[in-house]
Amino acid sequence: MNILTIIGTPRKGNTRALNDLFKAELADEGDTLDEIVLPRDFGDICCGCTSCILHGEEKCPHRDRIAPLIERLEKADLIILATPVFVMSCSSAMKAFLDHLAFMWLVHRPREAFFNKTALVIAAAAGSGVGDTVKLMKKNLFYLGVPQVFDYGITAIKMGGNYEESPRKETIKRQVSAKAARVKRAAARPRVGLKTRLFFNIFRIAQKKGWNKLDADYWCEKGWLDGKKPF
Ligand SMILES: Cc1cc2nc3c(=O)[nH]c(=O)nc-3n(C[C@H](O)[C@H](O)[C@H](O)COP(=O)(O)O)c2cc1C
Repeated sequence: MNILTIIGTPRKGNTRALNDLFKAELADEGDTLDEIVLPRDFGDICCGCTSCILHGEEKCPHRDRIAPLIERLEKADLIILATPVFVMSCSSAMKAFLDHLAFMWLVHRPREAFFNKTALVIAAAAGSGVGDTVKLMKKNLFYLGVPQVFDYGITAIKMGGNYEESPRKETIKRQVSAKAARVKRAAARPRVGLKTRLFFNIFRIAQKKGWNKLDADYWCEKGWLDGKKPF
């Protein structure tokens, strides 16, 4: 299994600690571990030109930097999105990265590879905001076509503190272990559920109306307008 983490902070803090705990539980011998650290590996902010959606992803001004990262995403079997909670949301580095994937959303030009993946969303906060943060990242993965997305968030760590000093450390470890076992089982046999199928069909109808020619042509070339499916 190829496990790719996209971590929305360069800090060696709680987000990284949780990610490391999960990786230790998830990775078996022979598995590949890959990691994209934000904003070190990608720090561009979407300028909103809409070129990727309307004229093709190769027209994105940040194409040279985002394209190799998308290739790594496509190769992953399990994607981990890990972020600290900043003002009740994911880090701005994570948001900027996710913005650059919009052209691959189900409503535009989804990639077949994503329908075979499993994902895990991790969020670390001092007090509150884990729920909204996790929801945002899960939604992004759903609209990229990833059918099985798990989440884990912690709120019990003081600002600037380390989970290693938390009185809940052992509980966190146990929870991570149990969640990782579920993720592993799901990743062993990815399944596309009803919700993804429903949204794929809704967007298929939208494509038939040809709102964005580039998207409609893509769906047509794939045979998805004639009943073929990417899953
Ligand atoms: C700019 C900023 C905004 C923050 N906003 C929140 C917040 O809305 N809710 C919260 O519980 N913690 C907030 N925090 C605290 C961090 O989520 C917390 O320190 C977390 O452990 C950071 O992750 P790290 O240890 O991986 O760096 C914020 C921290 C920073 C620097």
